[in-house]
Amino acid sequence: MNTEIVKISADDSAEKYEYAVELLKNNQVVGMPTETVYGLAGNAYSELAVKRIFEAKGRPQDNPLIVHISEFSEIYDLVSEVPDIAKKLSEKFWPGPLTMILPKSEKVPMCVTAGLDSVAVRCPSHPVARNLIKNCGLPIAAPSANISGKPSPTKAEHVFSDLNGKIPLVIDGGESEEGVESTVISLCGEIPKLLRPGNVTLTELEMVCGKVLVDDAVLNPLKEGEKVSSPGMKYKHYSPNAEATILKGDYKSFCDYVNENKSDETYAMVFDGEGENLEVKYFTYGNKNDYRSLSNRLFDCLRELDTIGAKKCFVRCPEENTDDLAVLNRLLRAAAFRVIDLGDKK
Ligand code: TXA
Ligand code: MG
Repeated sequence: MNTEIVKISADDSAEKYEYAVELLKNNQVVGMPTETVYGLAGNAYSELAVKRIFEAKGRPQDNPLIVHISEFSEIYDLVSEVPDIAKKLSEKFWPGPLTMILPKSEKVPMCVTAGLDSVAVRCPSHPVARNLIKNCGLPIAAPSANISGKPSPTKAEHVFSDLNGKIPLVIDGGESEEGVESTVISLCGEIPKLLRPGNVTLTELEMVCGKVLVDDAVLNPLKEGEKVSSPGMKYKHYSPNAEATILKGDYKSFCDYVNENKSDETYAMVFDGEGENLEVKYFTYGNKNDYRSLSNRLFDCLRELDTIGAKKCFVRCPEENTDDLAVLNRLLRAAAFRVIDLGDKK
């Protein structure tokens, strides 16, 4: 299959979307820009389209998909009840990078939710995604458009590099602004629970919901036999081919450790303004004090490691505070939870 890339911008007319809409209506799958990361879009009501999504990504069958809508009102087709808290959250954060898990309606096929009786719903803010969904008149199932296990795509060319030959079309709507996937909150229990951190932060959620629980899997590896709230948390994720290791500690200890443990294909990922005193090549992945700049470039840097053929990478650890969970959560998985605390070595 030939994979085409077509650029569409916010002010393009409906005609620009015709080809993508026709593909989606015919149960084909399409790379779709969103403000978080690129998604692999398919008709959420079609078992064939959903099967194609799973196949193209090589996604494990038990990992459910997020269903995307263009307006809040479309949620009523997908869920069996809309609690007040969901309305409040949507008023504050939709359209935008928040996914809510709610009890599913009969209309949503089991293949979308991987057999669960809940469904994940999100209304993205990217104008091209919203227009595409609106013009289709269908809810759109879309996981991140990477090969399963790889860093999520934040540019059309990332999607092309993972899925070339497997899907007919990638819509290029520019670089994803947020750079990490949406915050996922479950509203199925008595107290809302954060399942995946994103750029809608815990503090922001608590301002609307009151208490919010944080799932253990957000910052910890799963224990043998442990049941997961969000199936996506149990898989190796976001991993570059290089063996990444997070080094906790100050910049000086970081440089000392890296310089002592370097080999030919060792790289470092450091904060803006750093790199001096390192005897290896390095990338900067954002401003230490601005988690948005870190989240914005994280996946691009992880992909860059693969492009240059890095074998090892040492990564500066972002501060662990409640509202910076997204970057740390992704990095821990990219590093398969390899963390060295340099503070302990002093
Ligand atoms: O920003 C995003 O959320 C992007 C863009 C494309 O919208 N999508 C995305 O999808 O990140 P995906 O499939 O890569 O991640 C969805 C996560 C997975 O961890 C999955 O297990 C979880 O949401 N999930 C989906 N449905 C769920 C459900 N019913 N219960 C618990 N977790 C669910
Ligand atoms: Mg994903």
